[in-house]
Amino acid sequence: MIRASNLTVRLRDRAILHGIDFFARLGEVTAIVGPNGSGKTTLMRALTGDLPAEGQIEVAGLNPRTAKPWQMAAIRAVLPQATPMAFPFTVLEVVRLGLQAGLDARQPHLALAALARVGLQGYEARFYQELSGGEQQRVQIARVLAQVSRPGGRWLMLDEPVSSLDIGHQLQIMELAADFAAQGGGVIAVMHDLNLTAMFAQSVALLADGRLLGQGAPRHVLTDRALSAAYRCRIRVNKTPESGTWLLPHLAESN
Ligand SMILES: Nc1ncnc2c1ncn2[C@@H]1O[C@H](COP(=O)(O)OP(=O)(O)OP(=O)(O)O)[C@@H](O)[C@H]1O
Ligand SMILES: [Mg+2]
Repeated sequence: MIRASNLTVRLRDRAILHGIDFFARLGEVTAIVGPNGSGKTTLMRALTGDLPAEGQIEVAGLNPRTAKPWQMAAIRAVLPQATPMAFPFTVLEVVRLGLQAGLDARQPHLALAALARVGLQGYEARFYQELSGGEQQRVQIARVLAQVSRPGGRWLMLDEPVSSLDIGHQLQIMELAADFAAQGGGVIAVMHDLNLTAMFAQSVALLADGRLLGQGAPRHVLTDRALSAAYRCRIRVNKTPESGTWLLPHLAESN
């Protein structure tokens, strides 16, 4: 379980998050959604222990601010929203960074296995900086997969894992996340695509202006009213007739 209670984050004397209550369970994909600047990355960075916060945070029984870095690295792998790499690493070296941080550092084949899972077999010797934006993102996803290669009881914390990917790779990566949860891991993913969120998340937290508008099952949280208020535009949510799956919210007709 990952849980935050009454979480407030102040940056440069300004409150960015106001009294957030958030939880994520093993076995589930938990999405964090909301407009640009609403505080999604700030919430994720508080949960990973990278930002000081008021209130309580618990990650698998540990406080991420006081636990040892190796303790946190053993139970959760973090994909930041952006991952600048200053040195000319090869793809395999980047994925091995994840492997080194986790518990399975002595099993080098896991780095290749993680690359294969994101469809990048054969890319090992290429220079990371010479890859496309989406390819770099998939290398970073392989890095976090290599860090927590045994999902049971472990966490993937992903800030916009699929924002720079094409639709086929978005589905592939979300299926990897769902798989990780099905094997007893937990996933927290910041998402902008509400359709993918409805398809893959069991729980979704909706943020606006640093406040939590709600958290629960997508069908309860992703409503016309809540989304229109959060995103400040008119949004109507539909269902497909055969499966009841949510379709892309779209602009309501103005009349
Ligand atoms: N280091 C910082 N110092 C001061 N303000 C910050 C800092 N980092 C973020 N903020 C502010 O906090 C607010 C929330 O930022 P955050 O990055 O959490 O948004 P977000 O929901 O992740 O947005 P996006 O969808 O654009 O990634 C923004 O107004 C941002 O300007
Ligand atoms: Mg962000």
